[in-house]
Amino acid sequence: MKLEEKVILQYLDKAIKAREEAYTPYSNFKVGAVLVDENGVETSGANIENASYGLSNCAERSAIFAAASKGMRKIKIIAVVADTSKPVSPCGACRQVIKEFAMDDTIIILGNLKKDYKIMTMEELLPYGFEL
Ligand code: THU
Repeated sequence: MKLEEKVILQYLDKAIKAREEAYTPYSNFKVGAVLVDENGVETSGANIENASYGLSNCAERSAIFAAASKGMRKIKIIAVVADTSKPVSPCGACRQVIKEFAMDDTIIILGNLKKDYKIMTMEELLPYGFEL
């Protein structure tokens, strides 16, 4: 599946909107994510920090855990944005968590607030990722 540019920009807008709910009193670095599952259900997430820094949760994982808690098992599309000069680069932990629910043709949209974007497959984002 290939997404039209208009659709990619719509997902970036949704991730930018989700980013507004980020709770980041420690880093002040806000990240937003939105995913679409195999049934077309959309779920968004933002990063949620904690005074015990290591307990902070990234935007991608917020969206994925919220969706999986409602039954999502396969991600068709996931978009992630932050205020970065180039499209945001998801952390290693999130790459592995996305992989858990990704398919060969999952579309991963990485973007920033200027709407620069980069489309990646799971294999490109996490080559030789761990699986059981
Ligand atoms: N963060 C994300 O939300 N996603 C990533 O992939 C990288 C990092 C968040 C975690 C923390 O709240 C802030 O960005 C700074 O590291």
